[in-house]
Amino acid sequence: MVSFVTGAYILSALLFILALAGLSKHETARRGNAFGMAGMALALVSTLLLVLRQLTDGSYDSFNVWVGLLIIVVTMGIGATIGIRLAQRVEMTGMPELIAMMHSFVGLAAVLVGYNTYIETASVHGIVTDSVHAGEIFVGVFIGAVTFTGSIVANLKLSARMRSAPMMLPGRHLLNLGILVASALLMVWFMVADGWPAIAPLAVMTALALLLGFHLVAAIGGGDMPVVVSMLNSYSGWAAAAAGFMLSNNLLIVTGALVGSSGAILSYIMCKAMNRSFVSVIAGGFGSDGGPAEDRDYGEHREIQADDVADLLAHASTVVITPGYGMAVAQAQYPVAEMTKKLREKGVEVRFGIHPVAGRLPGHMNVLLAEAKVPYDIVLEMDEINDDLPDTDVVLVIGANDTVNPAALEEPGSPIAGMPVLEVWRAKEVIVFKRSMATGYAGVQNPLFFKDNTQMLFGDAKDKVNEIVAALG
Ligand code: TAP
Repeated sequence: MVSFVTGAYILSALLFILALAGLSKHETARRGNAFGMAGMALALVSTLLLVLRQLTDGSYDSFNVWVGLLIIVVTMGIGATIGIRLAQRVEMTGMPELIAMMHSFVGLAAVLVGYNTYIETASVHGIVTDSVHAGEIFVGVFIGAVTFTGSIVANLKLSARMRSAPMMLPGRHLLNLGILVASALLMVWFMVADGWPAIAPLAVMTALALLLGFHLVAAIGGGDMPVVVSMLNSYSGWAAAAAGFMLSNNLLIVTGALVGSSGAILSYIMCKAMNRSFVSVIAGGFGSDGGPAEDRDYGEHREIQADDVADLLAHASTVVITPGYGMAVAQAQYPVAEMTKKLREKGVEVRFGIHPVAGRLPGHMNVLLAEAKVPYDIVLEMDEINDDLPDTDVVLVIGANDTVNPAALEEPGSPIAGMPVLEVWRAKEVIVFKRSMATGYAGVQNPLFFKDNTQMLFGDAKDKVNEIVAALG
């Protein structure tokens, strides 16, 4: 049985690696998901077999075996029902907050596993004799507690139930540092304490770590939220790996390490895309609440109507579409795909330029465009399209704002200064689809709207693109 489970664990780990490899490209993403699901199903079944073996090895009477099995089946049933309902109900735009909530469960699980391991070991031996084991418990609970409250705050901020502006407490860096130092000292106490008093440093550290998780994410503002979500993804992976060490479960260690390192790599890539240093993101203090733009006079903007945009497009030879969060809100991807098809049939070269943090989750735009069956080969990344923009006749900015904001390059004092952006203003004509002159996620005004070659098409993106499709005939 053990060798079967070991074999199944190795196979699951391989399937998880194949899942990650598959998810790195749109073409193979579905296959990657299938690998991940197969790996998880195999992991669950083999772990259940392992538990069954432990329950039936003679140390428990048959009543306790049945109670144990019943608890596992009922809790898995409840978890699966909640998971399926949430997954069915969630909108694509609500995905980041759902992911944040799931990370909080991983954090909570690591805390509970840590306490359980401590109570189990301490009740057998009186103390946690092995200092490595004690260290695993302490670190596992610490990471789990930080992930738990941090993820809850991320969920509340992303779902707008908490202000997305950074919470700036005086001496906040000192507070974080103080908690880290205090936790390190408590760890020493935990490792040398004899018997049950060791629960005291563990409990105090848990309270401090819960506070640290809350404060770390509360101090991070709007613009940096994507990085926070992937950072918490990474934390939840390390929390799972720590739980794996505590439970001596190799698959949990491998899976946790995969999630932890891929989350860290994604955070790094996103920081680079936003030109922010990882440390400055973690330290927080950036981002705003959105809302009205500042009072500065940027001049007048010009408006255009859908029929005139259709005319402009029909006479263009090259068109680039740069979608953003507004396309997701309006669910405009289907008419956008239809418009693309019509224009291509008329001989217009249409391509898409995707900013790495457009929308509200990594790959958000790619998922929507793939859903609407836009061919992959015309969907390019920001770096691939930026140099072609000066030779482009028309750029359609559909519900994007921060990701096409020239202030990032031109205004050193801007909160988004230094973030690489799609340089759409270098094209001959720019049409911006949005409902008003409101700011985007980072809450900063966009000088693009006032440039001579920019015209605003006000209204819901889906309605406006539909009008253009109708006008194209
Ligand atoms: P944003 O800067 O958020 O701007 C979206 C624009 O869409 C808004 O200005 C809004 O203007 C418009 N809009 C909303 N609903 C619309 C509708 N139904 N029809 C037409 N327009 C609509 O978008 P972006 O350029 O994609 O930038 C993304 C921002 O989100 C960045 O600041 C990024 O850091 C942040 N963020 C990204 C992620 C990830 S991982 N991608 C996660 C969290 C946060 P109106 O209100 O005037 O219509």
